[in-house]
Amino acid sequence: MDDLSLLEFRRHFPEAEGRVHLASCSKGPLSDVVEAAALQYLRSWRELGAPWELWSAAWEESRARMAGRLGVLSSQVALAPSASSALGWILASRPAGSKMVIDARSFPSALHLGDAQRARCQVIYSEDLPGDDDDQRLAEAVARTGPGDLLTLPEVCFRTGALLDLAGAVAEVHARGGAVLLDGYQACGVVPSQVAELGVDGYVTGSHKYLLGSEGLAFLYWKDRDLAPSSPGWMAAADPQAMAKPRRLAEGARRFEQGTPTVSACYAFNAADQLLSALDPQLLSAHCRELVRGLREACSELGLLTLTPPGREAAMLAVASPDPQRACQELAGAGLIASPRGGAVRFAFHGLHTAGDLDRLRSWLSAHPSLFEVRRAA
Ligand SMILES: Cc1ncc(COP(=O)(O)O)c(C=O)c1O
Repeated sequence: MDDLSLLEFRRHFPEAEGRVHLASCSKGPLSDVVEAAALQYLRSWRELGAPWELWSAAWEESRARMAGRLGVLSSQVALAPSASSALGWILASRPAGSKMVIDARSFPSALHLGDAQRARCQVIYSEDLPGDDDDQRLAEAVARTGPGDLLTLPEVCFRTGALLDLAGAVAEVHARGGAVLLDGYQACGVVPSQVAELGVDGYVTGSHKYLLGSEGLAFLYWKDRDLAPSSPGWMAAADPQAMAKPRRLAEGARRFEQGTPTVSACYAFNAADQLLSALDPQLLSAHCRELVRGLREACSELGLLTLTPPGREAAMLAVASPDPQRACQELAGAGLIASPRGGAVRFAFHGLHTAGDLDRLRSWLSAHPSLFEVRRAA
């Protein structure tokens, strides 16, 4: 696909003129190309029966696309049914007795998965450590790591939309001989994330949020070849189709895989990724940050409490609300789709949004301030 302007990109979202979809932190909006790809998958099934060659080409295309996005080799990318599965594959494969540090801003899956490893590994949750804020608590946790240990943290916090300042923690863990696994689900698609720049050893993301695909497809990048998978399935074999003895696992990240990839989600992701890749990634990211700042300004004028730290914006602003579910229902009634989480309503921007969309949201907020928490005077 040729390079697209943001307005040309917007035209691929048939609902964009009527409804403002601000929920990509939860589920991205549907584009015409993804809808067509979903139908194409169904048609291939109806017309061809069981065209596994075609379908395996689709999942290999997904792997190659994600490798291109992250700037890594295809052999370093595994396909997973969900980001939680991919996180679990790495956590459950860490050597017994090693430490794992889990950052307080992680998605709850990382915390549940950490609990499940407590019998095998020493699990440190940064939220349990002293410190004035999450950055300080993370520094405390990192100071306790050593050779062979793992730090897991998100690139962007799902609750606040804050882009974490990773560089210090990554360098410190590496200096101590440990590894870093980054959960990029809340960033990938709108934050140009290249593994080499991030310097991490592992990266997890999935396709149904800012990557604009559907559920059922997530990705794991893992750099090292020496971690033995805890639960490989037939797709982890060096040659899955051979079903041969002696059993041998693939050498790359595919050795973590389990069963048949979700083919329909691969069709959706491939179409979405082609569309998204037609945008300049820096322009897209700057556009989203500008809209987040515009919304922050509007909230500030209305005296509403925002939870996203200034200067750490990615593409989402979290606005505190005493009843986020109700606020989101009211918003939806006005054609504004947002996402309730914790004590906040999350508003997530993407390349399709315009200043007009922001104005529409701004005027709705000014008519409904009581659905949100007001800032207390300092
Ligand atoms: C940062 C982050 N990690 C992981 C997940 C879980 O993804 P999945 O449902 O694919 O396991 C989410 C979902 O919201 C998320 O935001």
